Amino acid sequence: MCGIVGYTGWREAQVVLLNNLARLEYRGYDSCGLALRGSPLTIVKDAVRVAELAKTITPVKSTSGIGHTRWATHGPPCKINAHPHLDCTGSIAVVHNGVITNYEKLRKQLTEEGHKFISETDTEVISHLVEKYLKGNLEEAVNSALKVLEGSYAIIVIADNDPALVFARKDSPMILGIGEKEYFIASDVPALLEYTNRVIYLEDGDAGVVTPQGIKITHAGQPVTREENKIHWTADQAQKGGYEHYMLKEIHEQPSILRETISEYLSSQSSSDISSFYGNNKSVLMLACGTSYHAAMIGKYVTEKLLNTSVRLEMASEFNYLSRTPYFPLTIGITQSGETADTLKALRRAKEAHSMVMAITNVVGSTASRSSNYVLYTRAGPEISVAATKSFTAQLGALYWLALSQSSLSIPEILLHEFRHLPSKVQEVLDMEEVIKLSANKLAGYENVFFIGRGINYPVALEGALKLKEISYIHSEAYAAGEIKHGPFALLSNKTPVIAIVMRDNCHDAMLTTIKEIRARGSPVFAIVEDTDTAIVDMADYLIPVPSIMDIFSPFITSVVMQLLAYFTAKKRGCPIDFPRNLAKSVTVE
Ligand code: F6R
Repeated sequence: MCGIVGYTGWREAQVVLLNNLARLEYRGYDSCGLALRGSPLTIVKDAVRVAELAKTITPVKSTSGIGHTRWATHGPPCKINAHPHLDCTGSIAVVHNGVITNYEKLRKQLTEEGHKFISETDTEVISHLVEKYLKGNLEEAVNSALKVLEGSYAIIVIADNDPALVFARKDSPMILGIGEKEYFIASDVPALLEYTNRVIYLEDGDAGVVTPQGIKITHAGQPVTREENKIHWTADQAQKGGYEHYMLKEIHEQPSILRETISEYLSSQSSSDISSFYGNNKSVLMLACGTSYHAAMIGKYVTEKLLNTSVRLEMASEFNYLSRTPYFPLTIGITQSGETADTLKALRRAKEAHSMVMAITNVVGSTASRSSNYVLYTRAGPEISVAATKSFTAQLGALYWLALSQSSLSIPEILLHEFRHLPSKVQEVLDMEEVIKLSANKLAGYENVFFIGRGINYPVALEGALKLKEISYIHSEAYAAGEIKHGPFALLSNKTPVIAIVMRDNCHDAMLTTIKEIRARGSPVFAIVEDTDTAIVDMADYLIPVPSIMDIFSPFITSVVMQLLAYFTAKKRGCPIDFPRNLAKSVTVE
């Protein structure tokens, strides 16, 4: 949720930290701040975006510091609640991502011992604990503090009189970046790409120190070594590349992502890695949240259709509260970031129930990838926009490939042919951008919108409603088309447009019937239809034609229409598309 960064080396720390924080803003952007080493520490923070904060800082000669970009959990966004948080003396500063669950108890104890708290955050107990335990060595003081902390954390601590940046992680992501006589700490890879592509993924429970001379990592008090990895994403991939928003750039990357992903999956290496996953098992549990859950819904449909396997799908956040953990021999967790707290918790629960776990994730080295028995990587590259687009399409690619590749029969050539041609079909949809924009401009004038779909396109309708509400702030709801007359009809009027996905599959006739009923209630209908389908021409108010495609693959193109509709609607309404209010990219708290 929050993003943290640290730097020590030879460059001007404030420049490096501000650059790196700007690349982490997708993790939280309601406030931000820096602490720069010096005597005294320089602290700059406020409830503003990183670019605004940068304007207010006067240059400080310091080559070491920490930074934070916040997504509020304890206390509203304001200067006082912004990180870094200090101890009573102002000589120790802490940045934190995660939630300290026993902070109220600790705060009470520390207050009784004379510590004065100024913020409403859980984090502030950490700086006071470090102050309490500090007897000359910052690392030892942090280690003592960690012993009493409960909850999740990735923290970096700096002090005015100690050369080290002290770090620790538990259930929150953290990586180290390695440069020439300089070291970086961050929540995620895009933060570092401008300076280095050499990273170490810290394990849960790791702690340690970095100085310009090197890194020391410990686990349970013992020194450990962690492998160095080379990142193949480039800094450019994590930039806007001439597009007005990351979201539009990421939507447009989908053909090339699919092309790379499909060719990788079709290579024998990738398929042999996962060939043994299903074995003789005929049931699988899928777990995910949000957009990844919608991808999993489509994955369930495809898996059940192509394999003789039944799929139980659960929202990870609900699975964690089932009174009994159901046993499934196999579990697939779908998580773009690999760090979603609910999904990680659900996967742990499934593993404890002796399920063999596969993670489908976009982030190499993420917690999900490291804690699963199998990993199927999506190759979407860094996704910065808070609204997931290309990662969703890449998840579909992975889920389809998993179903196709596990079939005991050889894959019918016609399916493979269509699978290979998905990138060009998606490109055809992108080429229709101007037509989609016309519909979006109309939608932008409404405050309530319904989406409907049936069969494999019902999850696409859900995803369309989620995309529209999160970035345009229009209230939108999706229904399985057959359900809309069981209640939601009461809300239909000329003020509630309905977006209908009408592909020529086995649901086509039923969709047409539903559309007639909707029109009879006065709702404007926006229909996504195959360009050769004439049956619907007179029934819809606005048509969005898409290329014809084999039924089972239609979500690849209908979901791109949903993304563009949401994007252009939000743009027309002047919304901050990449950083919607109250949201963050990676939901690392429950
Ligand atoms: C919506 C969106 C979220 C994520 C959800 C799960 O655009 O991005 O709904 O899909 O937070 O995230 P991951 O896939 O990282 O587990």
